[in-house]
Amino acid sequence: MSRPDRVTVVEVGPRDGLQNESGELPVAARVRLITALAAAGLPVVEAGAFVSPKWVPQMAGSAEVLAQLPRGGPTRFPVLVPNDTGLARAREAGAAEIAVFGAASETFSQRNINCGIQESLGRFAPVIAAAKRGGLRVRGYVSCVLGCPYEGAVSPHRVANIARDLAELGCDEISLGDTIGVGTPDAAAKMLETVAAEVAIDRLAVHFHDTYGQALANVLACLERGVRIVDSAVAGLGGCPYAKGASGNLATEDLLYMLHGLGIDTGVDLDAVAAAGREISAALGREPASKVARALAAQGAGGAA
Ligand code: HMG
Ligand code: MG
Repeated sequence: MSRPDRVTVVEVGPRDGLQNESGELPVAARVRLITALAAAGLPVVEAGAFVSPKWVPQMAGSAEVLAQLPRGGPTRFPVLVPNDTGLARAREAGAAEIAVFGAASETFSQRNINCGIQESLGRFAPVIAAAKRGGLRVRGYVSCVLGCPYEGAVSPHRVANIARDLAELGCDEISLGDTIGVGTPDAAAKMLETVAAEVAIDRLAVHFHDTYGQALANVLACLERGVRIVDSAVAGLGGCPYAKGASGNLATEDLLYMLHGLGIDTGVDLDAVAAAGREISAALGREPASKVARALAAQGAGGAA
């Protein structure tokens, strides 16, 4: 087992995090957060979602957010798209990268996007094809890869089949999401190895939630099996509106601290991310969920007051 020299951190806080907040954050605050995260050196910052505002009102205004982001820099700003309507809106807003999102659980798929798994793949096919024809990069998410809030255990083979289908439809990258954060390292490794038998490991990303405090251990287990792309959310923002009990995503600050401690390069400035995390947490009226962010604040580092 070896570890990589470099990892690509995909920041999902401004989408996966904020979509779960009870209040709707103003566009200006979202733009400020995303701009700060890009300035911190994050190579990918998920900037919004072109989903139904009736389903997820927190992501309304994603076109206005995109319009105000810095262009021409190294950071990519993907957005979530569930269907043709979402793709049209994303393209009109100038998105260069989209993500479709499916699930390894039928019930979760129904609750999240109002259709079953097979039907969702049928909907994604023309969306992915049109996006690729238009020169957009496409990520495919698979949710509930280590458990479902409605169905319980999820078979790694089921995850592998859906990941393979999304890859065959044209997704450049597949993110494997432990949406409710129930996984432990051996289960995560087994799931990853099963998926990697179907989809090349360099196209796979891992996406853990820290509900049971296992996210970093799961990341490490997956890094040791060849993954080079890891999702996380500043200040541990997040959860999922259709997965009750799912706590925040793995905090970007915690991930960076571990990776840098292992000598793995990310190109990201941890103190700058922590400062952005404190600002958004203050706007939301809470402390960052990240332990590293709290430790840095206690030391007065990273711009802490
Ligand atoms: P539906 O109700 O079945 O869709 O929802 P519909 O086609 O019947 O349309 C209903 C209404 O929505 C219509 O408007 C459409 O125009 C409108 P009305 O006539 O009632 O005024 N509509 C749209 N509006 C804006 N943008 C669109 C769009 N599409 C339809 N793209 C739908 C189906 C997929 C639209 C809905 O279920 C939806 O938007 N779901 C999104 C849910 C969501 O965003 N969930 C969070 C994603 S997070 C996740 O999945 C996990 C992940 O984070 C990884 C992890 O953590 O593990 C990725
Ligand atoms: Mg998530």
